[in-house]
Amino acid sequence: MKNNNAPVGVFDSGVGGLTVAREIMRQIPNERIVYFGDTARVPYGSKSKETVTRYSRQIVRFLQTQEVKAIVVACNTASAYALEEIKTEVDIPMIGVVRPGAVVAAQTTSNGKIGVIGTEGTIGSRIYSHYIKEINPEAEVIGKACPLFVPLVEEGLWQDPVTDEIAKRYLTELIDIGIDTLILGCTHYPLIRSTVGRVMGDRVTLVNPAYETARELKEMLGQRGMLNEEAAQLGDNRYRFYVSDAAEKFKSFANSIIKYGILSAKIINIEEY
Ligand code: DGL
Repeated sequence: MKNNNAPVGVFDSGVGGLTVAREIMRQIPNERIVYFGDTARVPYGSKSKETVTRYSRQIVRFLQTQEVKAIVVACNTASAYALEEIKTEVDIPMIGVVRPGAVVAAQTTSNGKIGVIGTEGTIGSRIYSHYIKEINPEAEVIGKACPLFVPLVEEGLWQDPVTDEIAKRYLTELIDIGIDTLILGCTHYPLIRSTVGRVMGDRVTLVNPAYETARELKEMLGQRGMLNEEAAQLGDNRYRFYVSDAAEKFKSFANSIIKYGILSAKIINIEEY
C-alpha cells in the first residue's frame, strides 16, 4: 500500500549531502527525511566506481529498512557511479543530483560553453556531459576536478583568503575558455558559492544541483501522487539522521548549515547491510 507519510531517504558520503537535505526541507517542508551520511568511509570522490557502487548499495538496503518511499542520492560521485545500476534493483523511485543540474545548465547556457566542477570521480565519469549532450548535443562541457574544496569547506573556511586563492587557481582555466554557466557539481560547493561566484564574475551563471534536485523530487512525488499532505502529523520525528562514524562531528556541522536543530545523529554499522 502506498504510504505518502513515509520518509524520503537521502544519502551522501558524509556531511555534504546536507546541502541537498536542506533544499528539500525548504522546498517541500511536509516531507519527512531519513538521512544517512557515510562518515566512516568518506570521501567517495577519490574511490573507484566498484567501491562507490558497493557502498551505495549497502546504504540503499539500510534506507529500505527505514521504509522510505523514495531515495535521493545526494552525493554527486555516487550519482555518477552507482545510480543507474542501483535504481533498476529497487521498487521505489530513486533520483540523483546530476541529471537535474545538467538539465538546467543545458537550458541556461547562451554560448554553449558549460563548466562543471566536482570530485575527481564525478569529473572523470563525464556524467554531466552525457546528460547535457542529451539535451544540447552541440554544447561544449569542460570539467575541472577541485579536490581541495571539500576539505576547505569541512574546515569551515567558507569565506577565507585561502579558499579564494585555491578557487582562483582551479577556476582560471574555465574563465579563459569563456564558459557562461558553471555547475557546482559537488555537495559541498553550494557552501562556497559566493567565493566561486566572485572569482567567476557576473557573466557566469552558477547552477546548484542541490536546489534543482529538490525541485525535481517535488515534481516527481507530485506526478506520482506521493507528496505528503499530512503536515499536522509530522511531529519531532520529522528528520532522522544516521551516520557510520563520528556522530558528534556530524551533528555540529549539520547544525551550522541547517536551521531546524539536528536533535541527534545515530551511528549504525553500515557493513551489516
Ligand atoms: N559528496 C561528494 C560528492 O558530491 C563529495 C565528498 C566526497 O568525495 O565524498 O561528490
